[in-house]
Formats: sequence, structure tokens, C-alpha cells
Amino acid sequence: MANDHAPTRTSERQAFYDRIVPANLAPLWEQLHNLVTQAPVPKCLPTVWHYRDVRPHLMQSGSLITAQEATRRVLMLMNPGLGGQASITGSLFAGLQLIMPGEVAPAHRHTASALRFIVEGRGAYTAVDGERTTMEPGDFVITPSWTWHDHGNDTQEPMVWLDGLDVQIVNLLNASFAEGYPDEIQPVTRPEGDSFARYGNNLLPIDWKPEAKTSPVFNYPYARTREALAALARNGAPDSYHGHKLRYVNPASGEFAMPTIATFVQLLPGGFASLPYRATDGTVFVCVEGEGETRVEDTVLTWGQHDIFVVPSWSSHTHHTRRESVLFSFSDRAVQEKLGLWREARGNA
Ligand SMILES: [Fe+2]
Repeated sequence: MANDHAPTRTSERQAFYDRIVPANLAPLWEQLHNLVTQAPVPKCLPTVWHYRDVRPHLMQSGSLITAQEATRRVLMLMNPGLGGQASITGSLFAGLQLIMPGEVAPAHRHTASALRFIVEGRGAYTAVDGERTTMEPGDFVITPSWTWHDHGNDTQEPMVWLDGLDVQIVNLLNASFAEGYPDEIQPVTRPEGDSFARYGNNLLPIDWKPEAKTSPVFNYPYARTREALAALARNGAPDSYHGHKLRYVNPASGEFAMPTIATFVQLLPGGFASLPYRATDGTVFVCVEGEGETRVEDTVLTWGQHDIFVVPSWSSHTHHTRRESVLFSFSDRAVQEKLGLWREARGNA
């Protein structure tokens, strides 16, 4: 049976605990209840970042520092429960990145994987391993582990996207490497759309064998995603817990598109109220279209277009929409499933 508190700390026991400190020892029974909890105890708090509040700060950062000097001009989304850690959930990083017209975020690579979910602006590019992709609102773009990437904005408008990274997972394992590219911009070696043509149409090159665990499709355009969601909504009733929900997949394996971060998109009809649901993956949501609220235990998170909110691990929640809404989301479920840890519960169980 699991202990939910530590045994009595007598003076004799305390003296013993003090004696063994210099030997780099400590009694497990003093900490067992905190280490092996009966259910997840997330420090992450349910929180919403309204884009109308965040955007002015982000634009001010645009005149404070260049993308070149900052390397990446990002305002991190700091979960107020996580005590200043660069984290939005217990395991994942999120930030809003701004690139002003004419700017370049210089090429580099790192073992941490990143996703970009485009919020505002259209026409700037991300280059990954020699291929550029033009980004539009709602596109989901991947920069896989250890691939060279740079971003540039040749348009007249600021461009903003949400960055999601597994850097906290990589650092937990002390497996972080990073380096800068010798030049600011990597050379373009393949025409735009090349990887989508090869891997993005339910077709794969005949002799191609995957060399990486990340999807070879590095831009999942919103136009295609939205079309799929619209067809699902036309063709059947929504799931009571998720509405019409899809996961982004690696076409070479059927697994999640990224090895560490699971990504999803869901359409919730107008006036929809989902049934209570919880899972062990703390999840970051972005409202792409629509408006509504998500009730996480005693907290109500209201959201509209471009707002970002987080539901902590194992927190029962329901979604309520005022009109048809689309939510993009990401979590560490990809890691948890590989480790056999992921659990979900539907209803009030
Ligand atoms: Fe990067």
C-alpha cells in the first residue's frame, strides 16, 4: 500500500538523518510519499495567454532587439506554477517568436526538436536542411532534431508563430548539443515543395528509407488540415470528449509527426460542450478559429482566436464553444506512449 505521509520524525531518527548527510545518504521513507505519488501532482497551473494582451509586448520586443542579435526573438510562455522555469507544462517549452520585415533568424541546429505553429502574418519562410517552406497562419512546421534551420521574413508585415520545444526533456537527459551555421543563411539546395511532393501526398519514393524518427513532411499546411476537419464535421457526429479530432502523423511510420511531441487538431461545433476528460499529458492548446472556454477543475479559461492555454496533466476538463472552433494542441504524449506511461480517463471516473 502506498504511504501518503512520512513516518514520525523522532529526535533519535533526526539525529541519524543528520549523521548520514556527510556520507551523501538520506532515508527514502522521509520522501517516499512525494517521490512515488498515488496520482500525478503537476506543478503546472491551468493558464491562458490572451493574444490581445501578449501582442503589444511582443511588438515592443521588436524595437528592443533585432532577431539577429537575439538569435531567436522569443517571449517565453512561463507557466506561473513552475517557478521561473522556461516551461509551459512540466516537460515542454513554448514561446511566441517575432520576425520583423527584412529580418533573418540565423541558421543553427540543436538536438532539441521544435514545432512552429503559425499565428500571424503570411509569407515568411523557415528553411530546414536546404529547403524553404513559406508559412501561412495555422500551418504546423517541424524542425527535427539536429537539422540546420533559419527563418527569414521578406514580407512587409511582422510574422509571429508559437514555438514548442522538447528542450526540457532533452536537458533532463543531459543530451543537449547545439551549434551555429558558419553563415547567417544556409544555402537552398532543394526547391520549395520538394519534401511535400515526395512525402506529403500519401505516397513515398520507392526506394526511400527513413533516416530519422521525425516526419519527412516538415510543413502540414492549414488549408489541407482545415479541409479534412470540415469533411469530418459534414460526415458524422463529433466525439463526445474530443469533437472532431485528428493527430498529425509521420507518413513513414504512422507514429506522431515528432518523436517527442504529439500534435493534434480538433474542430468543435458551435454550442458544443464536451464531456469531462483527463490524460497524463499536460497539453498546450492554440485557438486557431472560434471562441469558447475550457473548464479545468475549478478554473475557467476563456479563449478566442490566437489565444494559448494549457491544461495540466491529469486535470479533468471540458470544452465549451460559442461558435465553431478549431484548436491545435501539443503535448509529451509521444514520449509517454513510448515509455508505456500514458493514461486517459473519460467521464468522471
Ligand atoms: Fe532553433
